[in-house]
Amino acid sequence: MAYLKNFTTFNKFGLGTNKVGGHNLFDNLADEDGIALVKAALDSGVTLLDTAFAYGFGRSEELIGQVIKDYDRSQLIIATKAAHDPAQNYAFNNSPEFLQASVDSALQRLDVDYIDIFYIHFPDESTDKRLAVQALQEMKEAGKIRAIGLSNFNLDQIKEANQDGYVDIVEDAYSLVDRTAEQTTWAYLQEHDIEFVPYYPLASGLLTGKYTKTQTFTNDDWQSRNPNFQGARYQAILAGVDILAGIGQAYNASPSQVALAWYLKNPNIAALIPGARIAAQLHDNLKALDVTLSDEDYQKIDAAFK
Ligand SMILES: NC(=O)c1ccc[n+]([C@@H]2O[C@H](COP(=O)([O-])OP(=O)(O)OC[C@H]3O[C@@H](n4cnc5c(N)ncnc54)[C@H](OP(=O)(O)O)[C@@H]3O)[C@@H](O)[C@H]2O)c1
Repeated sequence: MAYLKNFTTFNKFGLGTNKVGGHNLFDNLADEDGIALVKAALDSGVTLLDTAFAYGFGRSEELIGQVIKDYDRSQLIIATKAAHDPAQNYAFNNSPEFLQASVDSALQRLDVDYIDIFYIHFPDESTDKRLAVQALQEMKEAGKIRAIGLSNFNLDQIKEANQDGYVDIVEDAYSLVDRTAEQTTWAYLQEHDIEFVPYYPLASGLLTGKYTKTQTFTNDDWQSRNPNFQGARYQAILAGVDILAGIGQAYNASPSQVALAWYLKNPNIAALIPGARIAAQLHDNLKALDVTLSDEDYQKIDAAFK
């Protein structure tokens, strides 16, 4: 059952928070920046926050928990995820016992009475996925979570997990430069009234227009491990960014604002959770809400990134 579209204060523009406390994933993060970012989002009318245990192994959830104390909890949609098991060197664990314990510990770190969306962050190799979701259904019936999500599950895994129809939301990688999900999972999700939330909507910053065609990355740069930042693919994506920049001129909008406006107009996308490192990036991204793409420009972008 769809959760987001039925939520009264739902605003399609949310915030991804892997750079809030995600010290294990990214260098040079400051907790104060993360706190300021979340505050800026909530002060700007964002109601959906997307976090996970894996972002700082609980730190992101703790920081968000601190910030939301000053806001009306009932207006917020807090989404978190678990699968990385500290007792198994952070290997994925979807066992019912682990997932239920993860819900309880996330409630403590966030310091809330319930979590809106609880995602299984990644599938593990051994757990029966139907049983994993049934464990979350029990947490839902106990009032500890309000919606059940899956992340990084392929179509067969989603089908196995959703045998009882308990899955509400799927979060997966998707952007203008990686539209695979349209072909693989979307038909099933639509048929079963499961909402889709894309991650990496800005292709990890590539769609912002801040990268140049002559730029190179050393082995120390995280970009050197991401195929989108390599060779011909990198050049093709930047050519696409030029198209977004051209279309953006008529709207006085940057490439990322145009890309975000395209997702906002796309009815198959339930919510947006672009990440940001600092509040200024969030404010820049939020300007996408002022961009209403014409149908013609929407189609032009669709065709350019097919
Ligand atoms: N379910 C999962 O497995 C999964 C996986 C990944 C992410 N996620 C979620 O999805 C969210 C979005 O993904 P993401 O944050 O990794 O990628 P993204 O949204 O594609 O890119 C966000 C990054 O782009 C840069 N950026 C954003 N706005 C900018 C602006 N206006 N100007 C310049 N640079 C800007 C920032 O990085 P720099 O400043 O460092 O360049 C920011 O951290 C995450 O925050 C997380 O909540 C979920």
